[in-house]
Amino acid sequence: MRLLLVALVVLLAGCAPVKDEAVPTVIPSPVSLAVHDGWRDLAEPEVATDASIAAEGYTLEVDGAGIRIAASDDAGVFHARQTLLQLTVDGRVPFVSIEDAPRFAYRGAMLDVARHFFGVEDVKRYIDDIALLKFSYLHLHLTDDQGWRLQIDSWPELTRAGATTEIGGRGGGFYTKQQYAEIVEYAASRFITVVPEIDMPGHTNAASVAYPELSDIPVEPYEGIEVGFSSLAIRSEKTYEFVDDVVREVAAMTPGPYLHLGGDESLSTTDDDFLYFIGRATAIAAAYGKTLIGWHEMGRSGELPAGTVGQYWSYTTPQDGAAEHTLSFVQQGGRVIMSPANVAYLDQKYDALTELGLQWAGPTSIPQSYEWDPADIVPGVGEEQLLGVEAPMWTETLADIQDVEYMAFPRIASIAEIAWSPRRERDFAEFSPKLDAFVAFLDSRGINHYLGFPGTH
Ligand code: ACM
Repeated sequence: MRLLLVALVVLLAGCAPVKDEAVPTVIPSPVSLAVHDGWRDLAEPEVATDASIAAEGYTLEVDGAGIRIAASDDAGVFHARQTLLQLTVDGRVPFVSIEDAPRFAYRGAMLDVARHFFGVEDVKRYIDDIALLKFSYLHLHLTDDQGWRLQIDSWPELTRAGATTEIGGRGGGFYTKQQYAEIVEYAASRFITVVPEIDMPGHTNAASVAYPELSDIPVEPYEGIEVGFSSLAIRSEKTYEFVDDVVREVAAMTPGPYLHLGGDESLSTTDDDFLYFIGRATAIAAAYGKTLIGWHEMGRSGELPAGTVGQYWSYTTPQDGAAEHTLSFVQQGGRVIMSPANVAYLDQKYDALTELGLQWAGPTSIPQSYEWDPADIVPGVGEEQLLGVEAPMWTETLADIQDVEYMAFPRIASIAEIAWSPRRERDFAEFSPKLDAFVAFLDSRGINHYLGFPGTH
């Protein structure tokens, strides 16, 4: 009898939910999530098309009858599967009803592959990482003073001579066109569009090392971390041949709608030269059919091609004309991507003791990365004027992909929440337990993250 009782208890335990702990949470938070009583084994979802669901949105139902996803596009189905991954504990899924759709179409992460080079496998890993959080764009900062990272057939020295340097002196590297296509395709298979950035007219030392005629002054290979010292030769026609050839080849490698031309920190270019260059370079680039993006300084020009997008990288309180320059994109028919450096720059230290990272806009704690809103920063740039939000990762101090993950996670989850979830008052005390669950999810997938967690935030 006793044995029978034990057997019965064991049997019942086998049927019980995996754990009676709280139902796992989902980041970014869905528009609505109702949890019902019960769990079931994870199984291949049934997918139904529903044309009434917003782009990239989905519904997810888990109950005794099965797991069902509905969406109007394949991206929506993909995002629903990401949600399902976060909901799964030991192969079991709680009963839920979820309706979801993004706040912004542009939910970006940027990776600087110029200061340190990251190979194809590393970039693919970062793509997988950001796909978990429903990011839709990967901005690759492909060129800077320390290296030129993309094959350009018409200017072969860019990668022969301009790609062999990086911070730390490890020899740099670059993507062949075939490798770059592999990255673009891998991202697309995860519903992420690559945005290539060719930064001009500053941040061009490596280009001028390859082709000295692109600079008015002699240049040397550079592996330091200073900014603002390089400029193209603004009044030389050769410079505009270079811009035309490079942009034509990059546009041809870009199935997505956007091409980023940089324009930031051109501190050794005079104002007149800067405006002259931006006018000519953007007109050349626009002819290749892409919508241009520029860092907010580009808004100093009043002659941008219609629809040029501005990327704001000042602080949550705008400094030095940044608000005016950003508004200029809107006045010229464009929209804005918000990347306020003191809250959205993932390369900033978490606190003064963080070994990796820089600190000029930080340190940026996890709560600080969460408690801001992109529609509250620049007067005249509200919800309607925003294309979206982006979290840049500059890599002066980050030598490998584990370093990158450490600086990204978990703060990039805050950025995903801001970019995807409906606008609301954001209180970190409410978000914090969700982040704890998300960090456990990162651990289960072997993704590196800041260790000041849990309990120290
Ligand atoms: C930037 O941080 N210079 C865009």
